[in-house]
Amino acid sequence: MYKCAVILAAGEGKRMKSNTPKVLHKVCGKEMVNYVIDNIKEANIEDVNLVIGKGANLVKNSTEDRKVSYSFQDKQLGTGHAVICAKDFLANKKGSVVIFTADAPLITKDSIENLINFHEKGEYKATILTSIVDNPSGYGRIIRKDNSEVQKIVEHKDCSEEELNINEINSGMYCFDIESLISSLSKINNDNAQEEYYLTDVIEILKNENKKLGAISVPFEETMGVNSRLQLSQAEKIMRKRINEMHMNNGVTIINPESTYIECRVKIEQDTIIYPGNVIQGNTLIKKNCVLYPNSRIKDSTIGENSTIQSSVILDSHVGNNTTVGPFAYIRPESIIGNNVRIGDFVEIKKSSIGDGTKVSHLTYIGDAEIGNECNFGCGTVVVNYDGKVKTKTIVGDNSFIGCNTNLISPVKVNNDTYIAAGSTITDDVPKGALAIARAKQVNKEGWVAKKDLKK
Ligand code: UD1
Ligand code: CA
Repeated sequence: MYKCAVILAAGEGKRMKSNTPKVLHKVCGKEMVNYVIDNIKEANIEDVNLVIGKGANLVKNSTEDRKVSYSFQDKQLGTGHAVICAKDFLANKKGSVVIFTADAPLITKDSIENLINFHEKGEYKATILTSIVDNPSGYGRIIRKDNSEVQKIVEHKDCSEEELNINEINSGMYCFDIESLISSLSKINNDNAQEEYYLTDVIEILKNENKKLGAISVPFEETMGVNSRLQLSQAEKIMRKRINEMHMNNGVTIINPESTYIECRVKIEQDTIIYPGNVIQGNTLIKKNCVLYPNSRIKDSTIGENSTIQSSVILDSHVGNNTTVGPFAYIRPESIIGNNVRIGDFVEIKKSSIGDGTKVSHLTYIGDAEIGNECNFGCGTVVVNYDGKVKTKTIVGDNSFIGCNTNLISPVKVNNDTYIAAGSTITDDVPKGALAIARAKQVNKEGWVAKKDLKK
């Protein structure tokens, strides 16, 4: 049977107290609305329509690459009104439509498939996805006749004392027969506590027309809606747990999952060990057998096999195999660190490549540079890449030994197999095989202290 989806994403989300539209708030690195779209697409529903309104352009920009169509809700008059705004999308369609709210990111592909199968097998005109919860506060309640057949949904603010005690809630996710939905929507009004056109009212309308209604229940961990920052953190916690369990099932050791923050797109290979306090973000790949000691942030980067990272920040960069980074290193975007490299404490690398086997062990800045293989950087080397106006490039060839406290004033080229004496300020290219010394010669003034009468 033909199926399509409508996702409601036009609301402002007043309770978030934010300048960002609610549905663009992120859970484990992905916008809530995009979780909903991705799961629907994974459940093989291709034709997806997003109802947008508040912050429409922002929502559109953040969802465009997912190939959805859009309907526009000018004024936010309620969830029922939002679906009415998708009438052009639904017109002349026959089959099933699933309707989802964009502020419930935890729903899974399996539950979406189960909802549709249940709906179609049972030949229902409407099927509601529900959850049984300890604290139903804020949610619409499912009203059943004599504890069986669904009669209607009553919003929290419209509930009687008795109805408030019902702990089966409306997830805001449904499957409808398209024609039945369209005809019932024409009959809703805004005669309720919030003076809104509620989508939930179509259930009672269909019931009164003796249409067959279904309901299926899934755990609250999948249906929880996000209306506030507190609920955002609760959704994040559930998603974090899912992501960490997925990695552990794939053979990654996570010492303390509660304090390990891995975003949804991150990939981690087998036998990598992750200590607490790591934040791994964006499009990051950690290859096998790595050890991430505590407290690093790694974003949009690749870490090669058998590498060790400790208390460092690595952004938009590539780190090779058998390399160690940190503690306290800062690898800034567009850096490429080779294999068997050591980047030690208080080292900053910016937009530079570091060749295989090179050691930059401590207190060094390398910016806009190309460093060869098997080099050794002494403590306190600075690549002086900025003259106040422009940034220029430094090249250091293979097998170079850069003595402690060297300044490399760029643009400058240090050729292969060279030595630079400690304390040098290098302004001219160093030829292959040379030793460069660029500092004043030492002068000893014998007896100077006594002569000046400075002896203590
Ligand atoms: C809604 C349901 C409630 C359910 C809960 C589940 C209604 C009337 N109530 O309540 O039964 O338990 O979700 O989370 O449907 N939206 C629009 N246009 C509007 C209003 C809302 O697009 O005019 C969108 C919002 O962006 C949001 C979704 O619809 O993504 C739900 O709106 P929200 O105001 O959060 O509804 P709830 O009060 O949570
Ligand atoms: Ca909501």
